[in-house]
Amino acid sequence: MAEDEKAKTEGQAGLSAEEIAKEFKEHSVAEFFKKNMQMLGLTGKIKTLTTIVHEYVTNSLDACEETKILPDIEVQIKELGEEYYEITVKDNGPGLTQETVGKALGKLLAGTKFHRMMQLRGQQGIGASGCTMLSQITTGKATSVITGTGKGKPFSAEVTIDPKKNEPKLANVTMLDKEFRGTMIRAKFKGVKYVNSEQAPLEYLRRTAVANPHAQITLIEPSGEKIVFKRTLKDIPARPTEMKPHPKGATIDDLITLAKYSDSRKVGSFLKNAFDRFGDKAVEEVGKGISFDINKDPRQLTWDEAEEIIKQFKKITFIAPRTDGLIPISEDRIEKSLKSIVNPEFLSVITRKPSVYKGGFPFQIEVGIAYGGNAGRMGETNEEGQLQRRIEIMRFANRAPLLFDTGGCAITKAVQSIDWKRYGMKDYENAPLTIFVNLISVHIPYTGAGKQAISDEDEIMEELRLALMETGRKIYTYIGHQRRQAEKEAKRKMFYKYATEVAAAVADLTGKNKKTVEDKLHALVLKHLKMEEQKEKEMEAKGEAPEEEIDEEYEKRKAKEKKDADKKGNKKKTLVERAEGGDG
Ligand SMILES: Nc1ncnc2c1ncn2[C@@H]1O[C@H](COP(=O)(O)OP(=O)(O)OP(=O)(O)O)[C@@H](O)[C@H]1O
Ligand SMILES: [Mg+2]
Repeated sequence: MAEDEKAKTEGQAGLSAEEIAKEFKEHSVAEFFKKNMQMLGLTGKIKTLTTIVHEYVTNSLDACEETKILPDIEVQIKELGEEYYEITVKDNGPGLTQETVGKALGKLLAGTKFHRMMQLRGQQGIGASGCTMLSQITTGKATSVITGTGKGKPFSAEVTIDPKKNEPKLANVTMLDKEFRGTMIRAKFKGVKYVNSEQAPLEYLRRTAVANPHAQITLIEPSGEKIVFKRTLKDIPARPTEMKPHPKGATIDDLITLAKYSDSRKVGSFLKNAFDRFGDKAVEEVGKGISFDINKDPRQLTWDEAEEIIKQFKKITFIAPRTDGLIPISEDRIEKSLKSIVNPEFLSVITRKPSVYKGGFPFQIEVGIAYGGNAGRMGETNEEGQLQRRIEIMRFANRAPLLFDTGGCAITKAVQSIDWKRYGMKDYENAPLTIFVNLISVHIPYTGAGKQAISDEDEIMEELRLALMETGRKIYTYIGHQRRQAEKEAKRKMFYKYATEVAAAVADLTGKNKKTVEDKLHALVLKHLKMEEQKEKEMEAKGEAPEEEIDEEYEKRKAKEKKDADKKGNKKKTLVERAEGGDG
């Protein structure tokens, strides 16, 4: 080492590997999230409060959906002090047992959803427990719960988390002498704030009601005001079904992990049980290309053997993943919901066919566009002093509203990527528009653990764009029609005005009766306008809107879609034939 360099480091000698090794520690997932609450969306005073409500309410809705109960949810927010609130969420769901209550509310990455491929609002196992932790670290208090399953007495308990171990601690478990089926969670939080903004609990619940017309949701605000979003539909949505992973998306690691916990005794039967669309034919084909016995114990599979199997998967043509486990809200329900909440002039709703994104996950897009009426949200005041409406994009994932990380979400990106001018909207951002988009999937590809934005997977973007364009075209026809009507009216007024003036001049020049000339001219104008209208009707009957431009991009995408579907149809036929022969 050079003399001057030595001098520089003197007095602050570097650590040895052994000394650094003393610092080596393991951490639990709870400790990790305790230090990174922002990753759970628990950051910012307003956002945190809404996220807490979101976590509890999505859990209540999920629980009711699985058990086929019409949800009745009450959210109460009380102000206890400055930036200090108590949140209570009560549902009429299936309740929790004494065995599960601790894990449900006091252990991160624990729950009934993460390991199941199902269309539910929760999918990670950190929502409710994340809230318990936030309450604990901001107030030092436990989360209270009262729950009953309808069997035996309900009970109350206090839950905390031991972050070092990521283990729940239950205290004061008390059996209650009353009837109660459901779950009521009450927790206190500091550093949060209740306001009435677009990102506040009220708006969150309003949107939840739009996408869940079968749910009755009540909010009691800190002021004591009670707002009820009444259920508009009494039929309970179908129970979500669990789906198996599709072999095309499986990795070596997935295979090993599934095999390790398999109950099957042979690799062949394990494959059939673990994967979607896996029949005897596929097992036979895998068997042909591997160097070991397909009858071996799946728990003994090595990495190299699993790799051989995955290589065989690539050679087999499987039927596309099942999509029948997806439960859309449906066009008529979205229509009814948007009509009652936005009361628009015009409404167009589309539920696309299911599709599959990377990894073999089925998904489906639903889009509703409401125009005019109370559609959009209040924006700036215009020159005439009237409040102008602006575009409102309502994003949903598995029926749960997404209010944050707007810019990073595939839905926003898809809306922004559409050339709305084509659909008669010169300035779509300042149009009275509500765009409703619901993405459903057995696994929503969120961009983060906070579950606020959807990642822009190619297949998802394509479907979103097609759905938006399809609804956009309907809006265009409507706006075009409205505009033509307005133009026609203006034309009629102008012709009549001139006809009156011309009649006076003609009467003067010819010495004829002014009224007679005027009547004749008016009849002429009327005839001319009627002829124009007739022409327009004929064009419309032929399916040509008078001023419709050809939407090249849409036409191209639709043509491609049709071509792909035809191709798939042909392929499917051969696969179905194969399936009938035993595969699938
Ligand atoms: N109100 C409730 N009624 C019945 N079960 C509930 C209720 N709230 C939570 N649970 C159970 O507790 C588990 C953990 O909830 P938590 O919100 O932490 O995770 P999750 O909903 O599975 O996933 P996510 O982290 O994405 O929300 C759930 O999987 C569910 O089984
Ligand atoms: Mg949850």
